[in-house]
Amino acid sequence: MTPLTAHPSPRFGGETDLPGDKSISHRALILAALANGTSRITGLLASDDVRATEEAVKAFGAHVERDSEGAALVTGRTWQSPAEPVDCGNSGTSARLLMGAAAGFEGLAATFTGDASLSSRPMDRITQPLRRMGASIDGGETLPLDLIGARLGGIDYASPVASAQVKSAILLAGLRTDAPVRIVEPRPSRDHTEIMLAQFGVEGGVEEVEEGVAITLGEQRRLTATELHVPGDPSSAAFIWAAAAMIPGARVTTRGVLVNATRTGFIEKIEEMGAAVTLDNHVLRSGEPVGDVTVAHDRLEPVHVRPEEVPAMIDEIPMLACVAALAEGESVFEGIGELRVKESDRIGAVAAGLTANGVTAFATEDSLRVIGNGAVAGGRMVSTRHDHRIAMAFLTLGLAAKAAITVDNAEPIATSFPDFTALMRGLGAGIATR
Ligand code: S3P
Repeated sequence: MTPLTAHPSPRFGGETDLPGDKSISHRALILAALANGTSRITGLLASDDVRATEEAVKAFGAHVERDSEGAALVTGRTWQSPAEPVDCGNSGTSARLLMGAAAGFEGLAATFTGDASLSSRPMDRITQPLRRMGASIDGGETLPLDLIGARLGGIDYASPVASAQVKSAILLAGLRTDAPVRIVEPRPSRDHTEIMLAQFGVEGGVEEVEEGVAITLGEQRRLTATELHVPGDPSSAAFIWAAAAMIPGARVTTRGVLVNATRTGFIEKIEEMGAAVTLDNHVLRSGEPVGDVTVAHDRLEPVHVRPEEVPAMIDEIPMLACVAALAEGESVFEGIGELRVKESDRIGAVAAGLTANGVTAFATEDSLRVIGNGAVAGGRMVSTRHDHRIAMAFLTLGLAAKAAITVDNAEPIATSFPDFTALMRGLGAGIATR
């Protein structure tokens, strides 16, 4: 356990690049590992979660090296049984997407494991559809799970949750069958798998249907190696944007950040709350929209997040709830039950951390209310429950509170944003070991 303390930091601001998007990094490694030929990937995130995926694709037989510029060169292979269990660490995306990708290799046998947090997270949401397609998966509803790949059939699956991990697991498995593959999600989740499949030459379809949105795979399902750029991660940028929104006088520009509409919920909400937000240099790179986002402080109003808005800000809600603590009035977050099964129970962790630091917050099974009064007392320790986003959210809140906030363990930050402390310090944040 490594505690870390964030002190009030009235002179926050500047310009910065960002680490690569975590979701896109996982997908780039997995799709390249399935493709025919050698793909070149720039901007790949260097973090524990992405390393877990990289080690896994190597164990399945892909070849990965770095060129002189640090880009990843990934050569795809027919996936083989790995010699050891596939350790997904803390990473739900690794576990769920890799199981989907491996499921269609006939006779491949692999055991998937993870840390204590990942081993308590629901896997039935992917094992059910993958079994329906023909994969054999043993071991109950949580990791460790034993998978034996098979010749798969198609599927027409109505997912009960709007989860990109579920959708992606099915699409990746579907690459290994000729049969029709269709997934209906109740609400659109992040679409990076669909966008990246097109970069590798695999087209699909998307249409709005009465039950939500239907995603289908086209007939051409062979992947051809390609060049890819991984843009900056808006889920990491959210901490920087939040600090700029909360600290009077602050103004920050984040360069080259992903602005895909399935991920922009947080930036739209802080703009709605009163922060000044601008987007410059908007371009398309590797099929994804990217730009420079500038955020400047202004007086903050409370926020209302409705269930249909949640998928586009699913990982940013802990940070948004902390920002809401600095607004004057009641903010409401509805339909956020999925946060209970993330790296920690994030509704419980946020409510406890806010309450400890003098903010009134009420949680139900799938909602949160935060009663802001324009200032946060701070001064207390927050239990991060081994969750990177809880640690970063409360350290960021500490920069804008009246007294320093300490998190009990900063180690999990390495799963998604190892440079968090250095980058925030470079912008003027007073983050220190005490
Ligand atoms: C992710 C999807 C989200 C998100 C997770 C990354 C992905 O999970 O919370 O951090 O890369 O597909 P769900 O799709 O399960 O909501």
